[in-house]
Amino acid sequence: GKEWTDVSDLVEEMLESEVLIRGRVHTNRPTSNKLGFVVLRESGSTVQCVVSQSEKTKVGANMVKYLKQLSRESFVDVIGVVTLPKEPLTGTTQQVEIQVRKVYCINKSLAKLPLSVEDAARSEADIEASLQTPSPAARVNQDTRLNYRVLDLRTPANQAIFQLQYEVEYAFREKLRFKNFVGIHTPKLMAGSSEGGSAVFRLEYKGQPACLAQSPQLHKQMAICGDLRRVFEVGPVFRAEDSFTHRHLCEFVGLDVEMEIRKHYSEIMDLVDELFVFIFTSLNERCKKELQAVGKQYPFEPLKFLPKTLRLTFEEGVQMLKEAGVEVDPLGDLNTESERKLGQLVLEKYNTEFYILHRYPKAVRPFYTMTCADNPLYSNSFDVFIRGEEIISGAQRVHIPEVLEQRAGECGIDVKTISTYIDSFRYGAPLHGGFGVGLERVVMLFCALNNIRKTSLFPRDPQRLSP
Ligand code: 4AD
Repeated sequence: GKEWTDVSDLVEEMLESEVLIRGRVHTNRPTSNKLGFVVLRESGSTVQCVVSQSEKTKVGANMVKYLKQLSRESFVDVIGVVTLPKEPLTGTTQQVEIQVRKVYCINKSLAKLPLSVEDAARSEADIEASLQTPSPAARVNQDTRLNYRVLDLRTPANQAIFQLQYEVEYAFREKLRFKNFVGIHTPKLMAGSSEGGSAVFRLEYKGQPACLAQSPQLHKQMAICGDLRRVFEVGPVFRAEDSFTHRHLCEFVGLDVEMEIRKHYSEIMDLVDELFVFIFTSLNERCKKELQAVGKQYPFEPLKFLPKTLRLTFEEGVQMLKEAGVEVDPLGDLNTESERKLGQLVLEKYNTEFYILHRYPKAVRPFYTMTCADNPLYSNSFDVFIRGEEIISGAQRVHIPEVLEQRAGECGIDVKTISTYIDSFRYGAPLHGGFGVGLERVVMLFCALNNIRKTSLFPRDPQRLSP
């Protein structure tokens, strides 16, 4: 009936007391037949356990031998006495040591691992530094990490990334709940595409052609037609992307919002502003340890954002680019490179890495986007950027069925496949709008990570359907 102690709770106040802990064998370094060092890891926390054969410790030669052959990543229970090491430890999170009295192996790992968690947790700087030493560290490549994701996930940075990801989702729900939004769930099986374009996964639905939802777009708007008034959804989004890039997945988590508005699409941007300042502040205040853990492996500067989010019109953005010598089509879309460049210019001029670009040219927005009342070449739409990369797109929607029908046709969409959507607006429809956020992108860009696969638990991309 001994009580368990978490590795993270092992502190100096416990000196000389006997504890029972459980963890994985992180490293196992026998130094002789009488002495060995095992680092035990429990999620992000590690502690050094000393196995020393002697009368006093009642540890026999057999136990040292037994420990020697214990493979890394095996689960063990250890009973031992908390002591202080002669010199401060650098390789473990806990500063105390455990003098092992008893060990039980709970579950053994394969002796040969395809990926060492110790290697996977190293920062680029540590690897670089080790190249000058007699034991240079191995670099674990991305594919190996993803192929053996359950091992890769065990690093402190990865543990932290998914905590941060949930904090974003939680803060999103929390703020919207507080503002009287209701969480909804829209169907992922659809008769036709929701965003237009060809990037849909087709499938057969009881003999009828169907596809996986590219977004909750149509149904979240229909929920507004059903007088739910202010809705949000957190759910999977499927895109049959052909582009193999650092920021595209074939399945990602969408955070979607749709709301009635009184007059102007700035009401939607007001919400984006309030919501994201809250999310970023929550991350900074509630997740200090996690941000530190990510930064230890992947160093980054904290995100610069303003208490009131900067808004620029697309035209202003184009002008800023022009002044910096970058010519872009004033009625076209920005490519990745010009978005990045604009991000830099905005940072220099306004000291923020988070801003809204609005009033996009109509031609580059989806069919359901509302055209500007004062200029039919532009639309009541916006994108939002972190560190020069898009995380959100949003807009006021067309709520007039005839216009919607015409716009869908112009955009090459088979109107028959979305007739129930268009019909929803025939029974009186409110002015409304909303936006969609890519969860993986928010975490990736908040931490300035270089690849979206790092923030997807089991990423799906054009070349990967497993694990
Ligand atoms: O820009 P998107 O395609 O917009 C929509 O889906 C609209 N229905 C949103 C709206 O309410 N108007 O996607 C929204 C966000 C993007 O800003 C991006 O963050 C993310 O979803 N996203 C992706 N994330 C990962 N992989 C992909 N292939 C993504 N495509 C979009």
